[in-house]
Amino acid sequence: MYIIKDVENLRKKIKYFKIINKKIGLVPTMGNLHNGHIQLILLSKKYADIVIVSIFINPMQFNNLLDLKNYPRTFERDYTILKNNNVDILFFPDIHEMYPNGIKNQTFVQVPKLSDIVEGQSRPGHFKGVTTIITKLFNIIQPDFSFFGEKDYQQLLIIQTLVKELNYAIKIISLPIVRSKNGLALSSRNNNLNSQEIKIAPYLYEIIERTSEKIIQEGNINIIENVINESKILLLKKGFSIDIFNIYKYKTLDIPDKKTQKMIILASVWLGNTRLIDNKKIFFS
Ligand code: PAF
Repeated sequence: MYIIKDVENLRKKIKYFKIINKKIGLVPTMGNLHNGHIQLILLSKKYADIVIVSIFINPMQFNNLLDLKNYPRTFERDYTILKNNNVDILFFPDIHEMYPNGIKNQTFVQVPKLSDIVEGQSRPGHFKGVTTIITKLFNIIQPDFSFFGEKDYQQLLIIQTLVKELNYAIKIISLPIVRSKNGLALSSRNNNLNSQEIKIAPYLYEIIERTSEKIIQEGNINIIENVINESKILLLKKGFSIDIFNIYKYKTLDIPDKKTQKMIILASVWLGNTRLIDNKKIFFS
């Protein structure tokens, strides 16, 4: 596995792979890798000849300095995971390589509307940071495929929109949420949970499932508000603080109406100092 820290050398390597007609797959990450990332890498191997994983904790997408400071940094472990999974290139730039003129002066890319609603409302600037770093990675690497988890569903929608509207010739492939046996969606942030919180965290998915089952049983959306309120009470009782827990139209994240057939429950909650997100789609046939 090559570890490359600078853009120039990465470009040279990629140019060579392109000349010999290799398909490139990119898995962008912020490190602290878990089984969800490994599944993204394995998926990438099915599509691409060369798998590149980037590890960059992108300060531009953190709107909370404490969150950035607490973000787990586990390079040695990540390196071993990537090597054991036969990744071809690890791109591990530092902040000066990615933002040579500083973040404040950085040209940015923003997907309108979708970046400002739901999670974008409670984390102003977050998605602008994501789309800016992803655009930079796409421009540097010019992959044929790039891989993203469905856990960050709004992020996935925004990146799909970015690719479409900026005419990137990159196919975005998504991976369904990878869960531990107790249902908890795998996330780099789970490492920050203490022993008590780890026991509580799986209730998030249990409550999401219960919400979805109730709505499907009723077969219509008239009862959404009541079911959501009941679920929120359950979450609060378990000890979560709620940032987002609601149902949205599947593609636009607008509020569903009586005609809506495809919806998604999006949850973003806090357990102590840890933000957990999860989701579940609801399709009426
Ligand atoms: O989902 C993440 O880990 C990050 O938002 C991403 C896509 C790597 C961009 O920094």
